[in-house]
Amino acid sequence: MELIDRLEKVAAVALDAIAKSDTVAVLQEHRVRLLGKKGELTAILRAMSELAPEDRPRVGQLANALRDQIEDALLARLGELTALELEAKLQEERVDVTLPGRQPYFAHAHPLSRIIEEVTDIFLGLGFSVAEGPEIESEYYNFEALNVPPLHPARDMQDTFYLRDGRVLRTQTSPVQVRTMQAVSPHYPIRIISPGKVYRRDDDATHSPMFHQIEGLVVDKGVSLAHLKSVLLMFARQMFGAEREIRLRPSYFPFTEPSAEVDVSCGTCGGLGCRVCKGTGWVEILGCGMVHPNVLAMSGYDPESVSGFAFGMGVERIAMLKYNVEDLRHFFVNDARFIRQF
Ligand code: DAH
Repeated sequence: MELIDRLEKVAAVALDAIAKSDTVAVLQEHRVRLLGKKGELTAILRAMSELAPEDRPRVGQLANALRDQIEDALLARLGELTALELEAKLQEERVDVTLPGRQPYFAHAHPLSRIIEEVTDIFLGLGFSVAEGPEIESEYYNFEALNVPPLHPARDMQDTFYLRDGRVLRTQTSPVQVRTMQAVSPHYPIRIISPGKVYRRDDDATHSPMFHQIEGLVVDKGVSLAHLKSVLLMFARQMFGAEREIRLRPSYFPFTEPSAEVDVSCGTCGGLGCRVCKGTGWVEILGCGMVHPNVLAMSGYDPESVSGFAFGMGVERIAMLKYNVEDLRHFFVNDARFIRQF
């Protein structure tokens, strides 16, 4: 019968082609050509409707058997070819396990953020909490309420950017002292630190028009200079090393009385004198003092019944000391080669 001949011939050619296929892609083409919607075998199966009814079962059985055979052959060959192709690919892309690995780069916090975090952690451990204030500040909070009236010469050292409405980019984090006191007065104790950005008309290797400070304020009954010194000593030792000493040098700030500049013993020479400490054995880390009675009074406290101490440190300065960086501007250039060292 003609249809049976055709079937057997197609099947024989198909099986041969499948056996000779040498890539998965070629094999897929055969699959479509044979079994697809417009495939040869499909066409023959369709043509069965024209057969005499008594011939159909026989031809149908044969056709189904051949189709199964072809499908099995396709599947088997697919397995072989996939394995072969994988093998070839592995040969080609052989992994050299002796090569040194590629170190992935993990992002991390900016060195200045790290210093802020470290300092904050130390003061949290001493019972302080964190307070924040705005970077665009009124002259009242930035100067007047800190005992710096409009024509006071201390304003010269803190020239800054003025907005049209008269507000300023704050020159120090000290206004947060005032904001905190005014928010809670007459209640005490107050124990806060306040990290943040400040702005001045300065630009050289150790000054930047934008930099960071951390302010500290304690107000309570009976707070003394001894408390201030012990808190700062604990801070210096946790931050720079247990062997460090500090010293207070008399200084002047309008918002503290008495005022002091605080030095920490030089970590490079251990206090003997070297290039880093310019031969003195000490490096300056912050300014501090007992909160001026005027400042307490202006913010709603009676200087006769409570007292306070305050301090302010430059974050870049602390970072330069801790990491031995000679130019503050490195922190802001954002050269990844610099940042990644920390
Ligand atoms: N605000 C001062 C400055 O920017 C630093 C400072 C000194 C803050 C003494 C204080 C302080 O709270 O008591 O130079």
